[in-house]
Amino acid sequence: MSSPADGGVQSNISAYWSRHADSYDAYQLERLRHDEVHQTWLNVWRRALPPPPATVLDVGTGTGHVSLLLAELGYSVYGIDLAEGMLDNAGAKAARLPFAPPILAVGDAVAPDFPPESFDVITARYVLWTLRTPAIALANWRRLLRPGGRLVAVDSTWFPDGIRSDPATAKEADFQHLYDDEVLTVLPLAQAISIDATADVVRESGFSDVRVTALDEVLELDRKYGVAPGHHVQTQYLVTAVNGD
Ligand SMILES: C[S@@+](CC[C@H](N)C(=O)[O-])C[C@H]1O[C@@H](n2cnc3c(N)ncnc32)[C@H](O)[C@@H]1O
Repeated sequence: MSSPADGGVQSNISAYWSRHADSYDAYQLERLRHDEVHQTWLNVWRRALPPPPATVLDVGTGTGHVSLLLAELGYSVYGIDLAEGMLDNAGAKAARLPFAPPILAVGDAVAPDFPPESFDVITARYVLWTLRTPAIALANWRRLLRPGGRLVAVDSTWFPDGIRSDPATAKEADFQHLYDDEVLTVLPLAQAISIDATADVVRESGFSDVRVTALDEVLELDRKYGVAPGHHVQTQYLVTAVNGD
């Protein structure tokens, strides 16, 4: 599914995430076992999205963290990712849900294969930083949103000092190996020094009412429970925007 233009970079990114799917999911599951973590993330999405019923596309759904929470809240959810290992974990969890599960499929977040105006909301948690051509992706996402539809992203400036010189990621050899200089040149947001860089791409892609909100409640939980290997405790941001004036 990688585009011919990406020089194989996307295949390497997807293979990386598939290789690390089990450990990624184990960490996410361990966190969500704390009820306050579960409730905090439910509240993040509940506040940012219009109330259900609404149809949501979760791009780069990974092991389904967002897709499953949104399904729990009563949304009709589609989740796509190019890393099949990540999707396998999401699918295993979705199969056990007592409510309507998300529909999960292999798909490129840069060019999701759906008819125009299919969705009320597009969500993307921890995806924009590792996305090639985010401006093209965002333009495509606008086409998939109905008029007045919303983009709801969560991300951070994960590596403001550069991935190569970050002491936490230095211990993650496979991560350092993948996110080498060639890959980083096609991921414009991976080493952003401010969340404004993300907001600017969203705005330049034609979205309106672009808002950035620090998720202080998530920061508190990270301080309390710690973060995944290779990460620092740092502020995550909710970036919301509207398709239309
Ligand atoms: C850090 S994980 C985040 C997963 C999930 N959104 C979450 O909140 O836990 C990044 C995900 O983005 C996916 N990804 C990166 N580039 C993608 C692309 N072009 N199309 C689809 N998924 C992509 C990766 O495969 C990975 O599953």
